[in-house]
Amino acid sequence: MSFSILGTGKAVPEYVLTNDELSTMVETNDEWIRTRTGIEERRICKGETITELCVNAANEALEDAGITADQLDLIICSTMRGENLTPSQGCMIQKEIGATCPAFDVNAACSGFIYALDIADGYFVRKKAKHILIVSMDNLSNITNWKDRSTCVLFGDGGAAAVLGEGDDLLSINITANGNDVVLCIPHGENSSPFYEHESKPALLHMMGNDVYKFAVTAMPNGIRTAVEDAGLQLSDIDLVIPHQANIRIINTAAAKLDIPREKFFCNINHYGNTSSGSVPIALHEASRSGVLKKGDILALCAFGGGLTTGSCVIRWSK
Ligand code: ACO
Repeated sequence: MSFSILGTGKAVPEYVLTNDELSTMVETNDEWIRTRTGIEERRICKGETITELCVNAANEALEDAGITADQLDLIICSTMRGENLTPSQGCMIQKEIGATCPAFDVNAACSGFIYALDIADGYFVRKKAKHILIVSMDNLSNITNWKDRSTCVLFGDGGAAAVLGEGDDLLSINITANGNDVVLCIPHGENSSPFYEHESKPALLHMMGNDVYKFAVTAMPNGIRTAVEDAGLQLSDIDLVIPHQANIRIINTAAAKLDIPREKFFCNINHYGNTSSGSVPIALHEASRSGVLKKGDILALCAFGGGLTTGSCVIRWSK
């Protein structure tokens, strides 16, 4: 016995940054961004804090699940950078929604939601929880190098939450890591120690896009194939794939390599860009709310990102 997804919620900032507006900030244009990435616009935090977004997504997911915060046994927040180094973002969510359970953060970059699902699976298997809240939220505009056109056009802010309850809808789950701080890295930034002998690097996202691309077009199909095999299913049994929304060309390549019809890959990258760990659960939430997901559907979730990490799983949708 592991878990079922009881409810989902989403929170994105109000401000919509279009490709045209970005073209006034760096030397780029709407046509390049659309054709190379599939992105048309992204949401960027102005007035919202990451905690406010987390709380909004969490409350919507709790309401959707029909439970209250005091029924939660654990909160896991997947994020690369919460409001503070401590308290964790999970503890900030716990405080704001009025829960009393343990709470902590996990950082697996864009694979964070699936890492959190894997951790949650362990709690359900050990019968340590009846209800777990996962909130996956990133605020990448804080660490984006807004002068680097090869990265600043790709990312956006936002995330989503899921409430899990005891159930048997998780059919397989698989996470991987391949330590690499060369192709994708966001340093911490300043170091206040007068004793430290190394130079601090600015807290800005640095990415070798072509290398990450090559990694992703192998990692995504491999992750989906492994999760489907582990679930004892065939690729043709998958009703909907919820892929990490990093680049539409990565998704198209994965669909072609797996010979899964492209229409079975849910995509909303045009509206949000890459929201890191928020990407897969935002897509899951929108697939659910838009009626694309039907009760009994078999879903494959797949993400890859900084670390380098990957996560994939197969879930039955029973809502
Ligand atoms: N506008 C216009 N031109 C641009 C832009 C831009 N925004 N960015 C780059 N270019 C130019 C380059 O300078 C280059 O010009 P040149 O040929 O004169 O040198 C040309 O466009 C082609 O550049 P490439 O880097 O080869 O472009 P490519 O088609 O490979 O796309 C991209 C780059 C979109 C970054 C792609 O490699 C990609 O999507 N990589 C994967 C990124 C990813 O998935 N990250 C996920 C992890 S993120 C995380 O975990 C937080």
